[in-house]
Amino acid sequence: MAIRGWRPVAAAAVAAARPGGGGPGRGPGAGPAWGAAPEPVPEPAAPATAALYVHWPYCRKRCSYCNFNKYVVPAVDESAVGACLVQEARTLLRLSQVQSITSVFFGGGTPSLASPRTIAAVLEAVAGAAHLPASAEVTLEANPSSASPARLAGFRAAGINRLSIGVQSLDDAELRLLGREHTAAEARGAVEAARRLFPGRTSIDLLFGLPGQSQDAWAQGLAAALGLCDDHISLYQLTLERGTALAAQVWGGTLPAPPQDLLADMYQTACAMLVAAGFRHYEVSNFARKGALSTHNLSYWRAEQYIGVGPGAHGRFVPWGEGGRSREARVQTLEPDAWMQEVQSRGHGTRRRVVLSPLEQLEELLALGLRTDEGVTHERWGQFSPQLSLEAVFGEPGEAQDLQQQGWLLLDGGGLRCSVRGLALLDSLLPDLLCQLQRRWAPPAAPGWGAGAARRSPTGDRAGGEAAGVVSGGCGE
Ligand SMILES: *[C@@H]1O[C@H](CO)[C@@H](O)[C@H](O)[C@H]1NC(C)=O
Ligand code: SF4
Repeated sequence: MAIRGWRPVAAAAVAAARPGGGGPGRGPGAGPAWGAAPEPVPEPAAPATAALYVHWPYCRKRCSYCNFNKYVVPAVDESAVGACLVQEARTLLRLSQVQSITSVFFGGGTPSLASPRTIAAVLEAVAGAAHLPASAEVTLEANPSSASPARLAGFRAAGINRLSIGVQSLDDAELRLLGREHTAAEARGAVEAARRLFPGRTSIDLLFGLPGQSQDAWAQGLAAALGLCDDHISLYQLTLERGTALAAQVWGGTLPAPPQDLLADMYQTACAMLVAAGFRHYEVSNFARKGALSTHNLSYWRAEQYIGVGPGAHGRFVPWGEGGRSREARVQTLEPDAWMQEVQSRGHGTRRRVVLSPLEQLEELLALGLRTDEGVTHERWGQFSPQLSLEAVFGEPGEAQDLQQQGWLLLDGGGLRCSVRGLALLDSLLPDLLCQLQRRWAPPAAPGWGAGAARRSPTGDRAGGEAAGVVSGGCGE
């Protein structure tokens, strides 16, 4: 459900903070570890658990701001798509050799357009190939226009136990501007029906920073949403994406672009209102009360394993079943018809596999972990870096200490995390921290490692951001 905002930038920062060269042991000219570079780290043992993401690529209509991997087609061959999702889930579960699935998330596209039967078939396949505990969070993203009480009841019977509803706004004029299919009244109806069926487990998405939206209009909209919502809210700043109708209107001068300082004020206002209403600001874009945090998304931010099924889905896991020993980034084929053909002929549609180096894994851990209020704990860091502690990297004079002195960052017994103020600025803090990490990992003075080598970006999951592909700047030396 094309929600974006603060997320993608973190991945851009990961890429931006990487100079053209590779890390130790990588790229042309990469030799053995030298100088003060740490000993090669033994790969961590693969945990026997993973989260599972399932992508439903279709939508009925194109929203004006959306550049997600979604397709608007006259007729979806649902039984064929469903069979391929089932097949690919089985294959990837086998390749990962995961014993137990901790959560499942159906995203899209508009997965609430799939029939409950298809959702049930995928969940049955998962439960047949791995353990799927009854307590596991199983979320479906739903659009108000495909969330009638009867459909929602069908999804619940299929095994869904949490809903994430793409409300986006409770103002009809805003919804029209966004090109959404639903009205404010329909959004209210959907949330109310969802709360009856999934009490305490209904989340809503809201967008802010629409062209022409005032601070007051946003605050009023959020207040209305607070009167409607359950215990979880995700807030996204609208971003203008190339190739979308909305961006064309703004760049063509027909609609005003929201000024940066207004966007920052809107975000701060929202945080204050939500905290006052009892919500914990547990991640840059996410708020929960009564402990209703999304465990699925937390597993991304904690850099746990996850498997991505469906066109364009991303995964991070150790493919033990293929003889793999280290964590890989995987991306499935984007285009649904091509993806289906691949699944039909070889059981899965994995388009790209990249083994992540230990440094890349730490970069992701940092970029994602710092998005949460718990930050990167010592324990989690130690799982990825048994030899070089958080203290050893960030406790010495350098960027992290400066940021601590300025009140943006904390490093203590709990680990490394942003202060409340720092969370809003994470995207500008990250490049400095990534530079410090790279320096400690492999001193820049070391000659001859892959300078100028073309560098791919290993990131690109929706939790960590779209594939960034931005390699600019780099660390000062
Ligand atoms: C949670 O993860 C799903 C699946 O990757 C994604 O579509 C969704 O936007 C994420 N939600 C939040 C609140 O970050
Ligand atoms: S419902 Fe709209 S915003 Fe969501 S994926 Fe489809 S086109 Fe994009």
